[in-house]
Amino acid sequence: MSAQLGSTFPVKTPAGLAELSRSYYAGQHWRWRLVQPLRPYICPFAEVIDLVPRDSQVLDVGCGSGLFLLFLASFDKLRRGVGFDVAEDAIATANVARQRLHDPDLLHFAVRSVEQGIPHGDWTVVSAIDVIHHIPPPHQPQFIRDLCAATPPGARLIIKDMVTQPLWRATANRLHDLVMAKQWVHHASPEQVESWVTDPGMSCVHRSRRDMLWYGHWTLVFQRKADA
Ligand SMILES: C[S@@+](CC[C@H](N)C(=O)[O-])C[C@H]1O[C@@H](n2cnc3c(N)ncnc32)[C@H](O)[C@@H]1O
Repeated sequence: MSAQLGSTFPVKTPAGLAELSRSYYAGQHWRWRLVQPLRPYICPFAEVIDLVPRDSQVLDVGCGSGLFLLFLASFDKLRRGVGFDVAEDAIATANVARQRLHDPDLLHFAVRSVEQGIPHGDWTVVSAIDVIHHIPPPHQPQFIRDLCAATPPGARLIIKDMVTQPLWRATANRLHDLVMAKQWVHHASPEQVESWVTDPGMSCVHRSRRDMLWYGHWTLVFQRKADA
């Protein structure tokens, strides 16, 4: 556990992840200290962490304040992690938080928008957690195709987002984002996202659905063939 924080062994329960989250954002603006430790109770991070193999080189698209990459570092999943997000305050927070890792240089965060393009690199994992619903619907199919194009041969693309059905769960999340992000978001179903992946080199290798409190989540993993 080279990159974990402190001396305690991290535990992948919501409470254990919340404790890690508190340690990453200690001393930062109250908004991050309040909200980020609550996210493991409403977002299935443990499941998504388990989808990342050890020694991964991860590009996390729309990384926010870096919570997912920080978790991956703490669970010793990373050779390297790069995250980008359009929100400058989130990236500034991530850059302070990564200093709390034993090896801060494991992670790199940058301000960048999806519209500027998804950076290509030697990623073994590309992830987008709760980002699609922030992208305007007419641009969502191209966003998914751009994620695929940035996924190298043999690498996997992990997408986690919020359900469209039942309507009351989708509405609960829309109200959440209206309060938290001040944005009326547009969810895409996993079936829609799968239909947008037209790249013959990509195949869907994992589908899951999980409710946490009133939030409904789906996760898809696509794998690019080693020779495609
Ligand atoms: C619900 S947050 C999820 C953050 C992070 N993935 C996580 O799970 O902790 C959605 C993130 O997407 C980012 N985002 C929305 N539209 C974006 C865009 N066009 N380009 C880059 N990031 C974007 C937002 O700034 C926000 O940080």
